[in-house]
Amino acid sequence: MSKIVVSGLKPSGKLHIGNYLGAIKQLVELQKKDYKRFYFIADYHALTTKYNPSEKRVEIFNMAVDALAAGIDPKKSILFIQSHIPTHNNLAWLLGTVTSSGQLGRMIEYKEKIKSGQVPNAGLLNYPILMAADILIYDADFVPVGEDQRQHLELTRDIANAFNNNFGETFQLPKALHNATPRVMSLSDPTKKMSKSTPNGCLFLSDPPKVVEKKIMSAKTDSQTSISFDPKKRPGISNLLSIYSGISGRSIEKLVKEFKGKGYAEFKKSMAKEMNDFLKPLQMKRKKLLADKKSVMKILEEGAKKAIPIAERKLAEVQKRAGLIPTPNDNRRLSGI
Ligand code: ADP
Ligand code: TRP
Repeated sequence: MSKIVVSGLKPSGKLHIGNYLGAIKQLVELQKKDYKRFYFIADYHALTTKYNPSEKRVEIFNMAVDALAAGIDPKKSILFIQSHIPTHNNLAWLLGTVTSSGQLGRMIEYKEKIKSGQVPNAGLLNYPILMAADILIYDADFVPVGEDQRQHLELTRDIANAFNNNFGETFQLPKALHNATPRVMSLSDPTKKMSKSTPNGCLFLSDPPKVVEKKIMSAKTDSQTSISFDPKKRPGISNLLSIYSGISGRSIEKLVKEFKGKGYAEFKKSMAKEMNDFLKPLQMKRKKLLADKKSVMKILEEGAKKAIPIAERKLAEVQKRAGLIPTPNDNRRLSGI
C-alpha cells in the first residue's frame, strides 16, 4: 500500500519565501512520489490568535490559491479546508482525553504566543491536539512540516502512543519530514527567522520585481567580500546562499563555486534575477486563479468529498475502541452491550 502524507497550511497572512522553502516546496516535491497525499488549509488553527473575520476569510481562500499557484496539483493531492471535515474535531476531543495538560503548557509555540501578549485561550493551548487529530485521522506515515512544528509532531506521537496503550493498537506513529531549508532567516537581520511579524526582513511571494530586487540588493551581509557558506560566522551570506539554492535547485557548493572571486553585488544581482524568474509564473498562476474563484472552491469541495469518508471510517474505529456506541449506520452498533 502506498505511504500516506498529511500536512496542513495555516492561513495567517501573506506568504513569504520562508513559508515556501520551509513548507510548501516540500509538499509540491512529494507529489513526484507514489504516496497518497492529504493537504489542507488549517483554518481552525488560524483562529487561536486575535483576528478579523472578514480578513481571515480572504486569507483562508488565498492560502488555497497560493498552494495551487505554487504547484499543489489537485489531481495528485487531496486538497481541502480543515473545517469542512468536522470529523477532525471529533477525533481531537477523544485525543484530548489522553493528552497531558502539563505537556500542552510546555509547547514552545504556546509559550511564545503568550509571551508576545496573546490571550492564553484554550484553543491556543489545545492547538496541538487538533493537529494530532489532523494527522492521525488519515493514518499518516509522513508529515512534512517546518522546523518550528517539530515539537507538535513529537506530541502527536506521544498522544498516539498513549491512546494505543490505553485502548489497543489504533494509530501508527507518524514521522516528520523536514527539508533542506527548514529555517530561512530574515533578510534584514539574518540572526532571526524570516517571519511576517517583521515584514521588512521578508521576501513575499507577491512582491513585484522591483521590490524583490531592492530587498535582495539591500539584504544584510558582512564586511567580508567573498561568497562562502558558514551560517554561524557569516549568517547573512549563508542565508542568501540557502535561499538561492532553494529556488534555483543548484546546491550551495555549486553556487559557491559559481561565484568564486566575485563580490556581493554580482551575487545579489544574479540571485534577484533568478528569484524574479522563479516568482513570475507563480504570480501569474495566482492571478489566474483569483479571477476564477469558483473553480478554486470546486477543487476544495471535491477534496473534502474524498477525505470525508476516509476520516469518518477512522473515527468510527477510534470511537469503538474508546467505548462509544457506534452511529446508526454502523452495523456493529449493539455488539458488546
Ligand atoms: P510566520 O513565522 O511568518 O508567521 P507561520 O508561522 O505562519 O509564519 O509559518 C507557516 C509555516 O511556514 C510554518 O509552519 C513553517 O513550517 C514555515 N515557515 C515559516 N517561517 C519560516 C522560515 N523562516 N523558514 C522556514 N520555514 C518557515
Ligand atoms: N500547525 C501547523 C503550522 O502552524 C499547521 C498544521 C495544522 C499542520 N495541522 C497540521 C501541519 C497537520 C502538519 C500536519 O504550520
